[in-house]
Amino acid sequence: VHSARAADLWIVMGTKRLPIVNETPAKSADTIDSRDVEKVYDRYASWYDHLFGAVLDPGRRAVAQAVQILGPSSILEVGVGTGLTLPFYPENTRIVGIDLSAHMLARAHERAASLPRHDIELHVMDAESMIFESASFDCVVLPYVLSVTPDPARLINEVRRVCRPSGHVVIVNHFSGSRTWWLLERLVRPLAARIGFRSDFGFTDNVLSHDWIVESVRTVNLFGLSRVVVLRNG
Ligand SMILES: C[S@@+](CC[C@H](N)C(=O)[O-])C[C@H]1O[C@@H](n2cnc3c(N)ncnc32)[C@H](O)[C@@H]1O
Repeated sequence: VHSARAADLWIVMGTKRLPIVNETPAKSADTIDSRDVEKVYDRYASWYDHLFGAVLDPGRRAVAQAVQILGPSSILEVGVGTGLTLPFYPENTRIVGIDLSAHMLARAHERAASLPRHDIELHVMDAESMIFESASFDCVVLPYVLSVTPDPARLINEVRRVCRPSGHVVIVNHFSGSRTWWLLERLVRPLAARIGFRSDFGFTDNVLSHDWIVESVRTVNLFGLSRVVVLRNG
């Protein structure tokens, strides 16, 4: 019996290799990969705005308001989706939006075309491995993407690389711990890859564990579903 990878056991019989057991670890309940993200959001694209538009808009507006106060000259929006936050940004700012899903981005292109006074550029790109040079943006905005991306820590490292030193990162996301939402969080947890987001997502593990400066945290959306966090890139 040989071990090809730690996970696969097989037996050699003559010239044939027969697998006797495949112990490739199953995906854990909240594991998402970039193909899951692309597939799920390509599928969501045509009805995303009806399902997640108005209900999550208070968070998008709060993010844009925070950005307006910061007054950056360039903004990168990561996971721009169908572009629902775009109309809320200031007109005199360079805005770059990226997303893994080409179908979501096609909607964002339509929305951008209806905002001729905004300076908007959109690209299909994985935010965990961006083509932008370091320190390219004054402000990076993450609306409802941190609990979706396959590896949130890797995304944050990339975001901090492309954000200039002392620039800002503004997040709006659901974080676990709300008394109203805990049951739903646990019920949908095993469905993360299929529904395209993790419901059970810790604030300490995913935000406070990084060495950036937390400038403010504010609760938004229905029954305090989400938090808007303003961070300074140290
Ligand atoms: C829940 S949607 C949010 C869309 C939009 N920001 C909004 O406010 O409705 C998450 C989006 O992030 C995108 N996304 C997830 N992980 C990504 C990654 N690593 N790089 C780029 N886009 C990503 C998904 O394709 C999807 O469009």
